[in-house]
Amino acid sequence: MHHTLVADARRLPLPDHSIDLVVTSPPYWRKRDYGVTGQLGQETTPAGYVAAILDCLTEWRRTLTPTGSVMLNVGDGYHQRTLAGIPGRIEAAAADQGWLLRNRIVWAKTRGNPDPAKDRLTPRYEYVLHLTPARYHYDLAGYAAEYGNGANPGDVWTIAPERGLSPHLAPFPVELARRAILLACPRSVCTDCGHVAQRVTEPSGQLDPGRPQARRAMQLAAEAGLTEAHLAAIRATGISDAGKAQRIQTGTGRNSAEVQRLAAEAKQVLGGYFREFTFGPRHTVGWTDCGHDASRRGRVLDPFSGTGTTGVAAAGLGRDYIGVDLDARCHAIAADRTPQPALAA
Ligand SMILES: C[S@@+](CC[C@H](N)C(=O)[O-])C[C@H]1O[C@@H](n2cnc3c(N)ncnc32)[C@H](O)[C@@H]1O
Repeated sequence: MHHTLVADARRLPLPDHSIDLVVTSPPYWRKRDYGVTGQLGQETTPAGYVAAILDCLTEWRRTLTPTGSVMLNVGDGYHQRTLAGIPGRIEAAAADQGWLLRNRIVWAKTRGNPDPAKDRLTPRYEYVLHLTPARYHYDLAGYAAEYGNGANPGDVWTIAPERGLSPHLAPFPVELARRAILLACPRSVCTDCGHVAQRVTEPSGQLDPGRPQARRAMQLAAEAGLTEAHLAAIRATGISDAGKAQRIQTGTGRNSAEVQRLAAEAKQVLGGYFREFTFGPRHTVGWTDCGHDASRRGRVLDPFSGTGTTGVAAAGLGRDYIGVDLDARCHAIAADRTPQPALAA
């Protein structure tokens, strides 16, 4: 499903609890005139702008499912020779209204437009604020498998800006929207009970050879002839092997004496490198299922959709998309970027 609507981001013609994730980049404060009546971004003060963004957040919250969240791309700007501090003001105002700020992701740009300033450095980053009213869907394992070699890849996204399809608009890169969707938009949702499919993973036993500690751990294990059973025992007992071995289950209750013996043997050989085998990459073995035979694809909303970048990313990941913009001309540009349908990733 790929819909575009002409509407104000503060008054969406959408039902309650119908959106899994909002990914968007609003007009920045006093940066551009989009030439459309009712546009956001022309407020006379930062406070007025922040209030308008908060009105948006309140409306978006109405449309979110119980596991929904918002990825909001915002940048700062200079006004009367000083940075306006817009992202920080949005964060504080959102927190006052009960939003949880789960991440302040830095979009580090690999290049930027020429800047005439002679007495300050050129801004080369923006933020993506991950805001949520409460619990939210998050697929860190899927994201980490793609961007982190299994480990948590951190909150800096280094992405080249894309040249706009229209100089009038300021699109964010497809890659930025893609990462946001991969992290926080479910692949499928049960239309009967609302169950959100969660990735089920298992430790793969493979360590990341890019990390020196992991390489050393593998070398020690090989030299001592540790078996797959030893490595499985390490994973079963966890990091604090002493206490956890009593608690972590193997399926039959507690770890068997044999598992504890193998883990102790491995610990003897590996010393501090033991823990390397407890947090290695995991691989996907399936998805949780509620048993109902009724599902829809995850649904992404961009309420300032412009040229439809979020829609391109959503289609690439097999998610449904709703793009809203006050300016009907944008939707025409967006339609030319006809995305190829894809299977849910
Ligand atoms: C920064 S651009 C979005 C760029 C977008 N990410 C893209 O890929 O092209 C902001 C968009 O917000 C729209 N806009 C401005 N005020 C709006 C409002 N109150 N409600 C909905 N859209 C609005 C503008 O027409 C413009 O297309």
